[in-house]
Amino acid sequence: MKSNMWLDRLWMPFTSHNEQLEHPPLVIERGSGIYLYDTNGKQYIDAIGSWWVSAFGHCNPQISEAVKNQLGKLEHVLMAGFISEATTELTSILGDVLPRQLNRIFYSDNGSTSVEVALKIALQYHTLRGSNRNEFAAFGGGYHGDTLGSISVGGIPSFHGLFHEKFKKQHFTDSPYCFRCPAGKEPQSCHAQCMDGLERILEEHGKRIAACVFEPMVQGASGMRVYPPKVLHRVFDLCKSHGVITIADEVATGLGRTGKMFACDHAEVVPDIMCLAKGLTGGYLPLAVTAVREEIYDEFKGGPFSNRTLNHGHTFTGNPLASAAAVAALKLLIQNQFPESAQFVMQYFSKGLESLYEHNNVSGIRHLGFIGAFEIVRDKKTNEPFPQELRVPFRFSQIALQKGLILRPLGNTVYYMPPFNVKTEELDKIFALTKEAIEEISDEYTAS
Ligand SMILES: Cc1ncc(COP(=O)(O)O)c(C=O)c1O
Repeated sequence: MKSNMWLDRLWMPFTSHNEQLEHPPLVIERGSGIYLYDTNGKQYIDAIGSWWVSAFGHCNPQISEAVKNQLGKLEHVLMAGFISEATTELTSILGDVLPRQLNRIFYSDNGSTSVEVALKIALQYHTLRGSNRNEFAAFGGGYHGDTLGSISVGGIPSFHGLFHEKFKKQHFTDSPYCFRCPAGKEPQSCHAQCMDGLERILEEHGKRIAACVFEPMVQGASGMRVYPPKVLHRVFDLCKSHGVITIADEVATGLGRTGKMFACDHAEVVPDIMCLAKGLTGGYLPLAVTAVREEIYDEFKGGPFSNRTLNHGHTFTGNPLASAAAVAALKLLIQNQFPESAQFVMQYFSKGLESLYEHNNVSGIRHLGFIGAFEIVRDKKTNEPFPQELRVPFRFSQIALQKGLILRPLGNTVYYMPPFNVKTEELDKIFALTKEAIEEISDEYTAS
């Protein structure tokens, strides 16, 4: 019998102590395509891209090969005075993929640090220009990572509330949460009133605000809240008129996930700074990008004693193995003309999602590209949720897991993030298993 000693030593992320004991993590031995296999050989469909990173499935042959090749050449070199060949190649390819205005590429090693870098650049940029802008605007329901800077602009009370009082300089507008619109409007006929708050913030504090940080088109961690491009239009217009830098956190949405190369493309806008991570390496290794407009970079030009250097860097910044994985993942994206070439699969995916709507406990269906979600409700007529303490979404995910389907609800939201090369029969299986799990939930909780 294998020892369970490791469980007593482990501190799992986002997991309470009791839950870790009652529901120990499933040990996964291997992966292939959309499937993961536990140590008993049981197969699971990974419907969420393993924390939204797996753009081309697990153990993709091309990315694996690229990493193996790089392993035979170089595993690490400091990115100060040196750079790996793989990182130079990555920089060139990113230059072709990114909007041409986002000309400067700064590497770090995860989504949170890409946001930290963006916040620091915004603060230092204004300081270099002699302006006193040192506050930020952000969205309620926003998530930008777990480091101190990124949580300071995060708007999810259970994640960030504890820390917010430590930061005095953030201003939060409403979440563009169309299913439960803060302004009581319908998505088709609204005029992005959810951003009235941003207008008020900028009118009152605009001269002190360095940047506005947001997840374009989809607020991921607060429940895959998909919102219309008109909201982005309003954000960009407001920021422009107040001289506020726009930071688009495309850590989750960038590089094809929303059906366009970047979520900002849905609104045909280019931010001043864009953050990328997650799918950048196809989910192989940690790597992140903060891409910046040249006009911003211009302020940082100067010699070693000019005080114009961005003094920021991480040990694994621009790591060669991660860079090789990213080069291979980007080549897959380009050669297969993703996401445009996947129109049929994306439509098939959205039809599958819509088919869940027949169920009384399913509401608030939304999708954009390869992101889809619905909310578990007690009754679709009122959209009333089940009482939190019943933990219905968690129970739902446990039932799905028994059936071989990996889902990980966010609050009441069940979401899907399949790889871009998902097969239609795999989608059929995902939605068939989802329906079975919902029916079981319904029998358990609404029978009485
Ligand atoms: C939009 C967004 N920004 C930043 C992050 C943080 O990324 P990481 O977990 O790699 O630090 C996440 C992670 O889920 C995210 O969804």
